Amino acid sequence: MKVFLNKRIPQNGIDLLKENHIELITPETDNLSKGEWLQFCQSADVILNVGKNKFDRDFFEQCSNVKALALFSVGFDQVDIDEATRRGIPVGNTPDVLNQATSDVAFLLMQMVSRKVNYNIEKVKNGLWKDFDALEALGQELYGKTLGILGLGRIGFEMAKKCKAAFDMKIIYHNRHHNHEAEQELDSQYVSFDKLLSQSDVISVHANYTPEQANLFDKSAFGKMKSNAIFINTARGGFHNENDLLQALQSGTIWGAGLDVTNPEPMNADNPLLQLPNAVVLPHIGSATVEAREGMSRMVAENIIAFSKSENMPNVANPEIYKQNP
Ligand code: DGY
Repeated sequence: MKVFLNKRIPQNGIDLLKENHIELITPETDNLSKGEWLQFCQSADVILNVGKNKFDRDFFEQCSNVKALALFSVGFDQVDIDEATRRGIPVGNTPDVLNQATSDVAFLLMQMVSRKVNYNIEKVKNGLWKDFDALEALGQELYGKTLGILGLGRIGFEMAKKCKAAFDMKIIYHNRHHNHEAEQELDSQYVSFDKLLSQSDVISVHANYTPEQANLFDKSAFGKMKSNAIFINTARGGFHNENDLLQALQSGTIWGAGLDVTNPEPMNADNPLLQLPNAVVLPHIGSATVEAREGMSRMVAENIIAFSKSENMPNVANPEIYKQNP
């Protein structure tokens, strides 16, 4: 079985694959052109994918040799899941191991924005730190405020737990389905999307991204939010309309924003959002801890090992595949 790995991953997963006699095809460079990448894919049975390569219908047509995808990510928005399922291709992913790391980044961004950390760091760096001023750069406290979660799944749950423990925040959420465990454990309340917008002091996005949700946070959504609202997105950049967010931040429609994801990624260094005092942008570091990345490496290897033994992958984005073909 030939497994193509397009970029480096922590060694523990590679060792695990080796112990199971699974050899990897690895290119000499991390920076393959689209054509080169496709050629590698055409010579493999399984793709161990790191990064945002697209696996759409075109890909599956051109690479009909591919029998399984093993994503080094929990997110699978770059895969046409219906097409993969139709072709009997399992799409492995790496949930759970990054719940803490990613919710930590959401929590960090929330605090950075609430206390204007970006603005204040720039002030110190630029020699603008002057005498005490009782009215300069005042932040807002989060104690007892309302956190609105879009997508109260595993990562959203951890974010809500932290906010409740640290700031006794009230939790409201909007999901495709009710999360009864979260309702009980966090005393959280399911609300409509409009209520999420109008009642939250902080909105944090943790949902799985699908194209139907593109630009969900647009001019109209920002317009319904409180003027002290903080918008946090650590899920996918496609959820927010960047121009509308820029305007909402410039006009004071909302208080601030913290983004770990943008659209496109990477964000251009001259993006006007980066000049705003009330925006913090990080380069998609949600899962960037030693612990999370080693966990992901182990899980991606376990998925491939199971596939190599004709067993079900332990974690797949399209579990229905195993119901169709038990
Ligand atoms: C994930 O695992 O989906 C993270 O966002 C990294 O892509």
